[in-house]
Amino acid sequence: MVCLGNICRSPMAEGILRHKLEENNMGDSVTVDSCGFVPAHLGEHPHPLAILTAKSQGVDIGELRQRLFLEEDFDIFDKIYVMDMGNYRDVQRVSRSNEDMLKVDFLRNVVHPKSDQHVPDPWGGTLKDFQRTFRLIDEACEYIVKKIRYETL
Ligand code: 4NP
Repeated sequence: MVCLGNICRSPMAEGILRHKLEENNMGDSVTVDSCGFVPAHLGEHPHPLAILTAKSQGVDIGELRQRLFLEEDFDIFDKIYVMDMGNYRDVQRVSRSNEDMLKVDFLRNVVHPKSDQHVPDPWGGTLKDFQRTFRLIDEACEYIVKKIRYETL
């Protein structure tokens, strides 16, 4: 799960997907992680409103730590989900081949294929903004769990 800051959208996505996989007894078979591109919050926990929003839905992201996207992530992960076009371009800049980029997709494309819709960045916004973003990510993660379960991912 990739966004710009790795303190709002992608840590929520990491926590939500991991939570849903655990609920479905699939927690041990899938590795979920998140990262970003700006080092401003390196090593920090997610944004307090991201933690609060997730917690109110039973998802604990309080212990996650900010990290930067690395070239090696292309080797480690089968799928790389980005939140918006800026993230897509950032990932593309680090990529080494077309094969790397085949792993990359917009998170919302699992709900609306090929629409390239973005997940709005709630950074600097209100609790309502974080809740709206949470819902969009949550819906996408529900689809991802189903895709993994039915092996269509
Ligand atoms: P995120 O939001 O990409 O959803 O984590 C942001 C958080 C921090 C910054 C940018 C976006 N920043 O520039 O520090």
